[in-house]
Amino acid sequence: MTAVLFTGISELRTVSELGTLHDAALLAENGQVTWVGEAATAPAADEEVDLGGRAVLPGWVDSHTHMIFDGDRSGEFEARMAGADYAAGGIAVTMSATRQAGEQRLEQLLLERIRAAHAGGTTTLETKTGYGLDVASERLSAEIAARHVDEITFLGAHLVPPGAQTGDYLDLVVGEMLDAVAPHVGWIDVFCERGAFDEAQSRRVLEAGRKRGLGLRVHGNQLGDGPGVQLAVELGAASVDHVNYITDADVEALAGSETVATLLPACDLSTRQPLAPARQLLDAGAHIALASNLNPGTSYTSSMNFCVGTAVLQQFLSLEEAIHAATVGGARALRRHDVGGGLDSNGRPAKGTLAVGAAADLHVLDTAHTIDLAYRPGMPLTWRTYRGAERVA
Ligand code: NIG
Repeated sequence: MTAVLFTGISELRTVSELGTLHDAALLAENGQVTWVGEAATAPAADEEVDLGGRAVLPGWVDSHTHMIFDGDRSGEFEARMAGADYAAGGIAVTMSATRQAGEQRLEQLLLERIRAAHAGGTTTLETKTGYGLDVASERLSAEIAARHVDEITFLGAHLVPPGAQTGDYLDLVVGEMLDAVAPHVGWIDVFCERGAFDEAQSRRVLEAGRKRGLGLRVHGNQLGDGPGVQLAVELGAASVDHVNYITDADVEALAGSETVATLLPACDLSTRQPLAPARQLLDAGAHIALASNLNPGTSYTSSMNFCVGTAVLQQFLSLEEAIHAATVGGARALRRHDVGGGLDSNGRPAKGTLAVGAAADLHVLDTAHTIDLAYRPGMPLTWRTYRGAERVA
């Protein structure tokens, strides 16, 4: 077991009880953090990596993406910027391109997207299926994702594909399609929204997933008021994502629950929806996460730096709150957060924190100050990324 000591850290945000340290060092062994403290008191190690006076924080935990797709929808985006509304129907365009792509190309595209996410400081990723929408294509998406991505979510209930009847399609989703993807996924999700699936249909999908032992996630309250938040809380979903249009009762329900409200600011800007009420949710005591929502329809970016900067500049979070939401918040939304000793509830090294015991996932900025994430928006601030103490970017 090689012990690697990271030194030359101007500012170390542990996002744990250890807080933020200056002139710090961090020791990693076997991919886990084993010591954190002032550089002057650092233990001996086999290897030293001098980060040259840069700021370090945990790698981003991007808990909401749709990374398995082919094709782009730049024309749709351009029309939206000229005044058109976003509608769920565009998903079918990506479905056609994805079905035609084939395994090799889909895998190559996924690997390119993972590389780009690493280059932006992300070390933990979730992806949904949901651009196949037939048994073979959903299974293929899930299989490919399971080879490379940390957490996989089945989203057969993304849209009723053109030509299908809703009832028949739902039978397929909760039957043959679920059987086909179940070996490869840990989560099930549903797009609970006008134009996609209503409350009863969403409940059916989630309950079928739960019966198969899958954790629950919900797309809700993105394009208008709706039942998504209440349904997610009632069923004990780990996360309800988007939450742009929520009532006081929704905020209250979230605040009294373990369901994380996952905010997707890049998507809100791209769809010209009001930014989700981050401040209101936090002030009420709800758990929040920030995620990229990488997908070709509503958020063609994996830049968590952009999401964090936007949350500070336009959603009125402090930098500390935004970093917490994009690290520990994302980890909680995936149930990979620290529940004690730096481990998650399954005894794995926790994600999103640099507490002792957690995964040594480091995001090194090319600056001495983490505040630059908001102060210098859009600048190429990620210098290096380490996952389990191994350099990935
Ligand atoms: O999270 N809202 C549903 N699904 C995606 C968008 C999918 C698309 O338009 O391709 C989202 O924004």
